[in-house]
Amino acid sequence: MKISTLAPANIAFIKYWGRRDHELFLPANNSISMNINGCKTHTTLELVESDQDHVLVKFHKQEYKQLLPDSIKARNIFDQIKRIRQLAGSNLKIKMKSENNFPADAGLASSASSFAAITAALLLAYGLKEKFDDKQELSRQIRLCGSASAIRSAMDGYVEMLTGFDHESSHAVQIAGENHWNLVDIIAIVETGKKKVSSSQGHELAETSPYFQARLTEMQSRLDTVRQAILDKDFTKLGPAIEEESTSMHAIMMTMKPPAYYWGAGSMRVMRALMDWRDEDDLQAYFTFDAGANPHVICEEKDAEEVKHRLESLPEVQWTILNRPCKGVQETQDHLF
Ligand code: PMV
Repeated sequence: MKISTLAPANIAFIKYWGRRDHELFLPANNSISMNINGCKTHTTLELVESDQDHVLVKFHKQEYKQLLPDSIKARNIFDQIKRIRQLAGSNLKIKMKSENNFPADAGLASSASSFAAITAALLLAYGLKEKFDDKQELSRQIRLCGSASAIRSAMDGYVEMLTGFDHESSHAVQIAGENHWNLVDIIAIVETGKKKVSSSQGHELAETSPYFQARLTEMQSRLDTVRQAILDKDFTKLGPAIEEESTSMHAIMMTMKPPAYYWGAGSMRVMRALMDWRDEDDLQAYFTFDAGANPHVICEEKDAEEVKHRLESLPEVQWTILNRPCKGVQETQDHLF
Protein backbone atom coordinates (compact mmCIF):
# COMPACT_ATOMS: atom_id res chain seq x y z
CA MET A 1 0.00 0.00 0.00
CA LYS A 2 1.30 3.47 -0.90
CA ILE A 3 1.34 6.29 1.64
CA SER A 4 1.82 9.93 0.65
CA THR A 5 2.34 13.04 2.73
CA LEU A 6 2.70 16.77 2.11
CA ALA A 7 4.62 18.93 4.58
CA PRO A 8 5.24 22.68 4.57
CA ALA A 9 8.48 24.43 5.41
CA ASN A 10 8.17 27.00 8.17
CA ILE A 11 9.74 30.38 8.82
CA ALA A 12 11.04 30.90 12.35
CA PHE A 13 10.20 34.23 13.97
CA ILE A 14 12.24 33.09 16.98
CA LYS A 15 15.11 30.90 15.77
CA TYR A 16 17.16 28.18 17.32
CA TRP A 17 20.89 27.99 16.71
CA GLY A 18 22.75 25.57 18.95
CA ARG A 19 21.60 22.57 20.95
CA ARG A 20 21.59 21.61 24.61
CA ASP A 21 21.73 17.89 23.74
CA HIS A 22 23.23 16.63 20.48
CA GLU A 23 22.05 13.00 20.92
CA LEU A 24 18.38 13.81 21.41
CA PHE A 25 18.63 16.96 19.25
CA LEU A 26 17.23 19.20 22.02
CA PRO A 27 17.56 22.81 20.85
CA ALA A 28 19.22 25.42 23.09
CA ASN A 29 16.05 27.53 23.27
CA ASN A 30 12.36 27.48 22.36
CA SER A 31 11.55 28.69 18.85
CA ILE A 32 8.39 30.05 17.18
CA SER A 33 7.40 29.77 13.54
CA MET A 34 4.68 30.03 10.91
CA ASN A 35 4.12 27.23 8.39
CA ILE A 36 4.43 28.53 4.82
CA ASN A 37 2.23 27.21 2.02
CA GLY A 38 4.52 27.99 -0.95
CA CYS A 39 7.41 25.72 0.09
CA LYS A 40 6.45 22.06 0.38
CA THR A 41 7.81 18.53 0.34
CA HIS A 42 5.70 15.78 -1.20
CA THR A 43 6.66 12.19 -0.28
CA THR A 44 5.35 8.78 -1.39
CA LEU A 45 6.46 5.61 0.34
CA GLU A 46 5.74 1.90 0.00
CA LEU A 47 7.00 -1.06 2.06
CA VAL A 48 8.77 -3.68 -0.09
CA GLU A 49 10.42 -7.10 0.31
CA SER A 50 13.99 -6.17 -0.58
CA ASP A 51 17.47 -6.28 0.87
CA GLN A 52 17.82 -2.49 0.78
CA ASP A 53 15.95 0.80 0.96
CA HIS A 54 15.44 2.74 -2.29
CA VAL A 55 15.26 6.46 -1.62
CA LEU A 56 14.88 8.92 -4.49
CA VAL A 57 14.88 12.68 -3.92
CA LYS A 58 14.22 15.60 -6.21
CA PHE A 59 14.90 19.25 -5.59
CA HIS A 60 13.52 22.30 -7.35
CA LYS A 61 14.17 22.17 -11.13
CA GLN A 62 16.37 19.05 -10.80
CA GLU A 63 15.89 15.39 -11.74
CA TYR A 64 15.25 12.56 -9.25
CA LYS A 65 18.46 11.10 -7.86
CA GLN A 66 19.25 8.35 -5.42
CA LEU A 67 19.86 9.65 -1.90
CA LEU A 68 23.38 8.70 -0.76
CA PRO A 69 24.60 8.90 2.84
CA ASP A 70 27.11 11.61 1.88
CA SER A 71 25.90 14.42 4.18
CA ILE A 72 24.79 14.66 7.81
CA LYS A 73 21.18 15.30 6.74
CA ALA A 74 21.12 12.31 4.36
CA ARG A 75 22.57 10.04 7.06
CA ASN A 76 19.93 11.35 9.45
CA ILE A 77 17.22 10.26 7.00
CA PHE A 78 18.67 6.71 6.75
CA ASP A 79 18.94 6.57 10.57
CA GLN A 80 15.32 7.68 10.87
CA ILE A 81 14.20 4.93 8.45
CA LYS A 82 16.04 2.29 10.52
CA ARG A 83 14.77 3.67 13.82
CA ILE A 84 11.10 3.70 12.79
CA ARG A 85 11.37 0.24 11.18
CA GLN A 86 12.77 -1.04 14.48
CA LEU A 87 10.06 0.73 16.47
CA ALA A 88 7.47 -1.08 14.33
CA GLY A 89 9.31 -4.43 14.65
CA SER A 90 9.32 -4.85 10.86
CA ASN A 91 11.83 -6.31 8.41
CA LEU A 92 10.34 -4.68 5.34
CA LYS A 93 12.40 -2.11 3.46
CA ILE A 94 11.05 1.01 1.75
CA LYS A 95 10.72 2.43 -1.72
CA MET A 96 10.39 6.20 -1.42
CA LYS A 97 10.21 9.26 -3.63
CA SER A 98 10.38 12.70 -2.08
CA GLU A 99 10.35 16.04 -3.88
CA ASN A 100 10.65 19.70 -2.90
CA ASN A 101 9.04 22.51 -4.89
CA PHE A 102 11.70 25.03 -3.81
CA PRO A 103 15.53 25.28 -3.86
CA ALA A 104 17.38 23.23 -1.23
CA ASP A 105 20.30 24.39 0.91
CA ALA A 106 19.57 28.07 0.32
CA GLY A 107 18.32 28.84 3.80
CA LEU A 108 14.71 28.06 2.94
CA ALA A 109 14.26 25.37 5.59
CA SER A 110 14.19 22.59 3.00
CA SER A 111 15.15 20.05 5.64
CA ALA A 112 12.20 21.04 7.83
CA SER A 113 9.58 20.08 5.25
CA SER A 114 11.55 17.01 4.07
CA PHE A 115 12.06 15.58 7.56
CA ALA A 116 8.44 16.26 8.50
CA ALA A 117 7.04 14.67 5.30
CA ILE A 118 9.37 11.64 5.47
CA THR A 119 8.86 10.94 9.19
CA ALA A 120 5.07 11.20 8.82
CA ALA A 121 5.08 8.85 5.81
CA LEU A 122 7.32 6.33 7.64
CA LEU A 123 5.05 6.27 10.71
CA LEU A 124 1.94 5.74 8.55
CA ALA A 125 3.53 3.10 6.31
CA TYR A 126 4.93 1.09 9.23
CA GLY A 127 1.53 1.01 10.96
CA LEU A 128 2.31 3.56 13.70
CA LYS A 129 -0.69 5.76 12.88
CA GLU A 130 -1.32 6.62 16.55
CA LYS A 131 2.07 8.36 16.60
CA PHE A 132 1.09 10.35 13.49
CA ASP A 133 -2.35 11.29 14.84
CA ASP A 134 -0.96 12.57 18.16
CA LYS A 135 0.77 15.73 16.88
CA GLN A 136 2.93 16.17 19.99
CA GLU A 137 4.23 12.64 19.57
CA LEU A 138 4.66 13.23 15.83
CA SER A 139 6.78 16.30 16.67
CA ARG A 140 9.02 14.21 18.99
CA GLN A 141 9.46 11.58 16.28
CA ILE A 142 10.39 14.27 13.74
CA ARG A 143 12.96 15.74 16.18
CA LEU A 144 14.83 12.42 16.23
CA CYS A 145 15.53 12.98 12.54
CA GLY A 146 18.00 15.66 13.65
CA SER A 147 16.14 18.82 12.67
CA ALA A 148 14.49 20.78 15.44
CA SER A 149 13.04 23.23 12.91
CA ALA A 150 11.15 20.35 11.25
CA ILE A 151 9.32 19.68 14.52
CA ARG A 152 7.34 22.88 14.04
CA SER A 153 5.90 21.58 10.73
CA ALA A 154 4.05 18.87 12.70
CA MET A 155 1.27 21.26 13.71
CA ASP A 156 -0.97 23.79 11.91
CA GLY A 157 -0.34 27.52 11.60
CA TYR A 158 1.77 29.26 14.26
CA VAL A 159 3.80 26.84 16.35
CA GLU A 160 6.22 26.92 19.29
CA MET A 161 8.91 24.29 19.78
CA LEU A 162 9.53 23.65 23.48
CA THR A 163 13.14 22.74 24.03
CA GLY A 164 12.36 20.70 27.16
CA PHE A 165 14.95 18.71 29.12
CA ASP A 166 14.41 15.16 27.82
CA HIS A 167 12.73 13.28 24.95
CA GLU A 168 9.26 13.50 26.50
CA SER A 169 9.27 17.23 27.31
CA SER A 170 10.79 18.40 24.01
CA HIS A 171 7.97 18.83 21.50
CA ALA A 172 5.86 21.32 19.54
CA VAL A 173 2.75 23.16 20.77
CA GLN A 174 0.35 25.21 18.69
CA ILE A 175 0.08 28.96 19.38
CA ALA A 176 -2.68 29.62 16.80
CA GLY A 177 -4.17 27.95 13.74
CA GLU A 178 -3.45 28.88 10.13
CA ASN A 179 -6.53 31.09 9.84
CA HIS A 180 -5.75 33.13 12.96
CA TRP A 181 -3.75 35.89 11.23
CA ASN A 182 -3.17 36.34 7.50
CA LEU A 183 0.48 37.32 7.59
CA VAL A 184 2.39 36.98 4.34
CA ASP A 185 5.99 35.78 3.93
CA ILE A 186 7.56 36.89 0.63
CA ILE A 187 10.88 35.15 0.09
CA ALA A 188 13.20 37.22 -2.07
CA ILE A 189 15.59 34.88 -3.86
CA VAL A 190 18.93 36.66 -4.16
CA GLU A 191 21.22 33.57 -4.20
CA THR A 192 20.62 29.88 -4.95
CA GLY A 193 24.09 28.38 -4.39
CA LYS A 194 24.65 25.70 -1.76
CA LYS A 195 25.55 27.23 1.59
CA LYS A 196 29.07 26.62 2.89
CA VAL A 197 28.20 25.77 6.51
CA SER A 198 25.19 23.47 7.01
CA SER A 199 22.86 24.09 9.95
CA SER A 200 23.89 20.69 11.39
CA GLN A 201 27.50 21.93 11.54
CA GLY A 202 26.35 25.31 12.83
CA HIS A 203 24.44 23.84 15.80
CA GLU A 204 27.69 22.19 16.95
CA LEU A 205 29.66 25.45 16.65
CA ALA A 206 27.16 27.93 18.13
CA GLU A 207 28.56 27.75 21.65
CA THR A 208 31.99 28.87 20.43
CA SER A 209 30.58 32.37 19.94
CA PRO A 210 31.35 34.62 22.94
CA TYR A 211 27.83 36.07 22.52
CA PHE A 212 25.96 32.76 22.73
CA GLN A 213 25.04 33.04 26.43
CA ALA A 214 23.99 36.68 25.98
CA ARG A 215 21.61 35.59 23.23
CA LEU A 216 20.06 32.93 25.48
CA THR A 217 19.68 35.47 28.32
CA GLU A 218 17.70 37.93 26.22
CA MET A 219 15.73 35.12 24.54
CA GLN A 220 13.01 34.73 27.18
CA SER A 221 11.60 38.22 26.85
CA ARG A 222 11.78 38.07 23.04
CA LEU A 223 9.89 34.77 23.05
CA ASP A 224 7.17 36.35 25.21
CA THR A 225 6.95 39.39 22.90
CA VAL A 226 6.62 37.32 19.72
CA ARG A 227 4.13 34.82 21.19
CA GLN A 228 1.94 37.65 22.52
CA ALA A 229 2.20 39.66 19.27
CA ILE A 230 0.90 36.60 17.36
CA LEU A 231 -1.97 36.09 19.81
CA ASP A 232 -2.87 39.83 19.67
CA LYS A 233 -2.21 40.07 15.88
CA ASP A 234 -0.03 43.07 16.70
CA PHE A 235 2.27 43.69 13.73
CA THR A 236 3.88 46.80 15.24
CA LYS A 237 5.26 44.53 18.00
CA LEU A 238 6.01 41.49 15.84
CA GLY A 239 7.94 43.20 13.02
CA PRO A 240 10.77 44.83 15.03
CA ALA A 241 11.08 41.76 17.29
CA ILE A 242 11.62 39.33 14.39
CA GLU A 243 14.28 41.53 12.78
CA GLU A 244 16.13 41.87 16.08
CA GLU A 245 15.94 38.11 16.56
CA SER A 246 17.19 37.25 13.08
CA THR A 247 20.16 39.59 13.45
CA SER A 248 20.93 38.20 16.92
CA MET A 249 21.18 34.68 15.42
CA HIS A 250 23.38 35.92 12.55
CA ALA A 251 25.65 37.68 15.08
CA ILE A 252 26.26 34.26 16.66
CA MET A 253 26.90 32.71 13.23
CA MET A 254 29.43 35.39 12.31
CA THR A 255 31.29 35.11 15.64
CA MET A 256 31.50 31.29 15.90
CA LYS A 257 34.90 29.67 15.49
CA PRO A 258 35.14 29.21 12.54
CA PRO A 259 32.52 31.79 11.54
CA ALA A 260 29.72 31.43 8.99
CA TYR A 261 28.65 34.42 6.89
CA TYR A 262 25.33 33.65 5.25
CA TRP A 263 24.36 37.14 4.07
CA GLY A 264 25.49 38.39 0.67
CA ALA A 265 25.23 41.69 -1.18
CA GLY A 266 21.62 40.93 -2.20
CA SER A 267 20.63 40.20 1.41
CA MET A 268 22.01 43.55 2.54
CA ARG A 269 20.30 45.36 -0.33
CA VAL A 270 16.90 44.01 0.75
CA MET A 271 17.49 44.85 4.43
CA ARG A 272 18.32 48.45 3.57
CA ALA A 273 15.43 48.76 1.11
CA LEU A 274 12.95 47.59 3.75
CA MET A 275 14.27 50.15 6.23
CA ASP A 276 13.94 52.92 3.62
CA TRP A 277 10.40 51.87 2.65
CA ARG A 278 9.37 51.93 6.30
CA ASP A 279 10.99 55.32 7.00
CA GLU A 280 9.98 57.06 3.81
CA ASP A 281 6.62 55.49 2.85
CA ASP A 282 5.43 53.85 6.08
CA LEU A 283 5.37 50.48 4.27
CA GLN A 284 5.43 47.97 7.12
CA ALA A 285 7.53 44.96 6.10
CA TYR A 286 10.32 43.28 8.09
CA PHE A 287 13.06 40.78 7.24
CA THR A 288 14.06 37.52 8.84
CA PHE A 289 16.77 35.12 7.60
CA ASP A 290 17.36 31.44 8.30
CA ALA A 291 20.81 29.96 7.65
CA GLY A 292 21.04 31.46 4.18
CA ALA A 293 21.22 34.60 2.08
CA ASN A 294 17.56 34.82 1.08
CA PRO A 295 15.42 37.18 3.16
CA HIS A 296 11.91 36.20 4.19
CA VAL A 297 9.98 39.49 4.13
CA ILE A 298 7.04 39.45 6.49
CA CYS A 299 4.09 41.82 6.08
CA GLU A 300 0.34 41.94 6.47
CA GLU A 301 -1.98 40.89 3.63
CA LYS A 302 -2.97 44.51 2.85
CA ASP A 303 0.66 45.37 1.93
CA ALA A 304 1.63 42.10 0.23
CA GLU A 305 1.16 43.17 -3.41
CA GLU A 306 3.09 46.41 -2.95
CA VAL A 307 5.94 44.74 -1.05
CA LYS A 308 6.23 41.94 -3.64
CA HIS A 309 6.23 44.45 -6.50
CA ARG A 310 8.95 46.56 -4.85
CA LEU A 311 11.10 43.51 -4.03
CA GLU A 312 10.86 42.28 -7.62
CA SER A 313 12.00 45.67 -8.89
CA LEU A 314 15.35 45.35 -7.02
CA PRO A 315 18.03 44.13 -9.48
CA GLU A 316 19.46 41.72 -6.85
CA VAL A 317 16.15 39.84 -6.50
CA GLN A 318 15.90 36.95 -9.00
CA TRP A 319 12.35 35.94 -8.11
CA THR A 320 10.01 35.84 -5.13
CA ILE A 321 7.97 33.09 -3.46
CA LEU A 322 4.77 34.29 -1.82
CA ASN A 323 3.63 32.30 1.21
CA ARG A 324 0.64 32.36 3.50
CA PRO A 325 0.17 30.46 6.79
CA CYS A 326 -0.95 26.86 6.33
CA LYS A 327 -1.61 23.53 8.01
CA GLY A 328 1.22 21.27 9.14
CA VAL A 329 2.06 17.89 7.62
CA GLN A 330 -0.95 16.09 6.06
CA GLU A 331 -1.61 12.71 4.51
CA THR A 332 -2.63 12.94 0.82
CA GLN A 333 -3.96 10.45 -1.73
CA ASP A 334 -1.88 12.07 -4.45
CA HIS A 335 0.93 9.54 -5.04
CA LEU A 336 4.25 10.21 -6.80
CA PHE A 337 4.51 6.66 -8.27
O1 PMV B 1 16.49 22.34 11.98
P1 PMV B 1 17.82 22.61 11.44
O2 PMV B 1 18.85 21.80 12.09
O3 PMV B 1 17.89 22.54 9.96
O4 PMV B 1 18.22 24.12 11.86
C1 PMV B 1 17.72 25.23 11.23
C2 PMV B 1 17.81 26.40 12.09
C3 PMV B 1 17.36 27.72 11.47
O5 PMV B 1 16.60 27.51 10.30
C4 PMV B 1 18.56 28.57 11.07
C5 PMV B 1 16.55 28.50 12.50
C6 PMV B 1 15.20 27.89 12.79
O6 PMV B 1 14.86 27.82 13.97
O7 PMV B 1 14.47 27.54 11.84
